[in-house]
Amino acid sequence: MSFKQFSAIALPEIEKELQAQIARLNQPRLHPFHAMLTYHMGWTGEGAGPEAAGKRIRPLLVLLAVSAARGAAWQIGLPAAAAVELVHNFSLVHDDVQDNSDKRRGRPTAWKKWGVPMAINVGDALFVIGNQAILDLGKTLPASTVTQAASILSAACLDLTRGQYLDMSYEGRTDLGLDEYWPMIGGKTSALLAACAELGALIGGANAEEREGYRLFGHHLGLAFQVQDDALGIWGDESVTGKSAASDLVEGKNSLPILFALEKIPAFAKRWAQGSIQADEVAELAALLEREGAKTYALETAQRETEKALTFLEKADPGGEAGETLLELANMLLKRKQ
Ligand code: IPE
Ligand code: IPE
Ligand code: MG
Ligand code: MG
Repeated sequence: MSFKQFSAIALPEIEKELQAQIARLNQPRLHPFHAMLTYHMGWTGEGAGPEAAGKRIRPLLVLLAVSAARGAAWQIGLPAAAAVELVHNFSLVHDDVQDNSDKRRGRPTAWKKWGVPMAINVGDALFVIGNQAILDLGKTLPASTVTQAASILSAACLDLTRGQYLDMSYEGRTDLGLDEYWPMIGGKTSALLAACAELGALIGGANAEEREGYRLFGHHLGLAFQVQDDALGIWGDESVTGKSAASDLVEGKNSLPILFALEKIPAFAKRWAQGSIQADEVAELAALLEREGAKTYALETAQRETEKALTFLEKADPGGEAGETLLELANMLLKRKQ
């Protein structure tokens, strides 16, 4: 089954599960709060629809891994699929505050609409509901599996906050090298993707060794995913990414193309050391970075990490159609523009 075919079947089920989980807040007096969450999830408000919902890559990864591991029905993974997407969305709501980003998935961010204090609370609610959602695995799976799943998810959350700490602490620094980059993205992005693949394998009944293979597949896929995001953060088309293309440079983010440039492009390193980049300099600097190889470097790095991911996937020996679909997903993410 192609990724497109699988998505067409699984996405409506994922949305249904997400809506049921978020309905925990659909109570008297809380309707405006519930509406903030449904806005962020892409279901309500101006511009609602599939683009405002995002790609839902993480829940799809969980469900494919459930089936690929031992041929189980992917439906048993739905509570975990919803959990990882809720946690991801918690991290986005808070990340947009942390990064001062006013656009996400083509729409104003939660903090832009309701202010920072409310956005913090929206993120908190998504985080907690994500942690409640995973416990619903207990409806079909033994308690020991549920405990393991919950601990995989919460470990990934802590890694995510470690990565976000590093990301923020690196802002504006001029003395960083590539050694500092990998632990940062390993935390902020890869930890959750690694957890998705591992959770799927666990729920699907894989043994410890296979689970480790899935985890490493997700980890390297996550590294490739963030490197690609870094490239899109400079050279992406805003109307496709739904995010501002200037903000990484203006915010002084030490993304992969920047760390490459600090080592290899003296003209850029000099400008970076002089302080904040202004919005009207962004186009020229992006062109300089591209001319001097920073884009090619990032795209080749993403390719290399995807290849590593696929080596681990092969070792985990995924089965059936879902195994092939996982492989397709990995290659598709490498070409993404969104
Ligand atoms: C954005 O993730 C944040 C990163 C980890 C790079 P996605 O690109 O998966 O975001 P959505 O959910 O599809 O909007
Ligand atoms: C990605 O952060 C990781 C998290 C949101 C935890 P970024 O700041 O790099 O991602 P975008 O570009 O805002 O989606
Ligand atoms: Mg960020
Ligand atoms: Mg951000």
